[in-house]
Amino acid sequence: MFIALALAASVPGEVNPGAMLRVQRSAPGNLEVGGELVGLPFGTTRYLRYEDLLQLPQETYTVNDDSNLPRNTVIRGVALTTLARLFGQSPDSALIVAICSDGYRTNYPRDYLAAHHPLLVLQINGKARAEWPQSGNGGRFGPYLISHPFFKPAFKVLSHEDEPQIPYGVTRIEFRRESRVFGAIRPVGKWPGDSPVMQGYIIARQDCFRCHDMGAEGGSMASVNWVQMAAIARSDSRRFRQIIRNPASVTPTAKMPGQPGYDDATLDALTAYFQTFSEARAESRPEP
Ligand code: HEC
Repeated sequence: MFIALALAASVPGEVNPGAMLRVQRSAPGNLEVGGELVGLPFGTTRYLRYEDLLQLPQETYTVNDDSNLPRNTVIRGVALTTLARLFGQSPDSALIVAICSDGYRTNYPRDYLAAHHPLLVLQINGKARAEWPQSGNGGRFGPYLISHPFFKPAFKVLSHEDEPQIPYGVTRIEFRRESRVFGAIRPVGKWPGDSPVMQGYIIARQDCFRCHDMGAEGGSMASVNWVQMAAIARSDSRRFRQIIRNPASVTPTAKMPGQPGYDDATLDALTAYFQTFSEARAESRPEP
């Protein structure tokens, strides 16, 4: 079974992306795709089968620096940029969103895709998904995880360094417009690129937005949305800063991971950024 799949995968024949986008789910392990799909109205959901994903052009890497995987793990799968090229509507829909079963959500903007070449992992150490261990890491990885050939941070803003975006438990991929997704949390008004507000925005966009939502965008893992976070930043900035650095010191049961490495300037920037959000922002959807 495995050999047959591997052989088929290593000889990618003609693929017909349109035919792979199934209307109905056929198995729990299908990958849901949505957003701007080629030839389909916005908001349509389709399903890609694991077996079909193996027919797409595969890439193989030995990974040594992914905190989810032991050193020297061989990953094989489809580049997210390949998925966007085959199933996305246009180069405009080049922001890729990976959504996990727990509401965690990773946004891969164009810059990130170009710098890091993330891969939708289909095989680990030559094993197809059905053979991944069901306990430990293997069990939580499914149905899909994302990794990189290697990761070298591509930017640094204050003490936030470009972080590897390596979600597991990915169930859905969307092809979106950067202006739409990031537009939801872009600060209103004109701010110089090096202002604390813009620096806070860049950090929040990669960090907080994975778990906290603004309207339809962003992760839903935390049950606290952007406007509620902003209200805390405005009413009690000390508490806000403490939550970011060490959530458990504010609420012992907090599940949110802390950022003990964020220095004061970084917390200032995040506070300044969130303080630009008013209650009114929640009502009026920003311009795309
Ligand atoms: C990995 C997911 C995750 C990330 C990333 C994350 N949070 Fe949270 N956050 C949570 C969860 C979950 C909660 C709900 C409370 C809890 O369990 O910690 C929360 C709660 C909060 C709260 C309310 C806490 C309270 O006690 O009222 C604030 C404020 C907050 N987060 C700010 C931020 C900011 C700012 C960032 C980015 C710098 C961020 N979070 C990044 C998961 C996350």
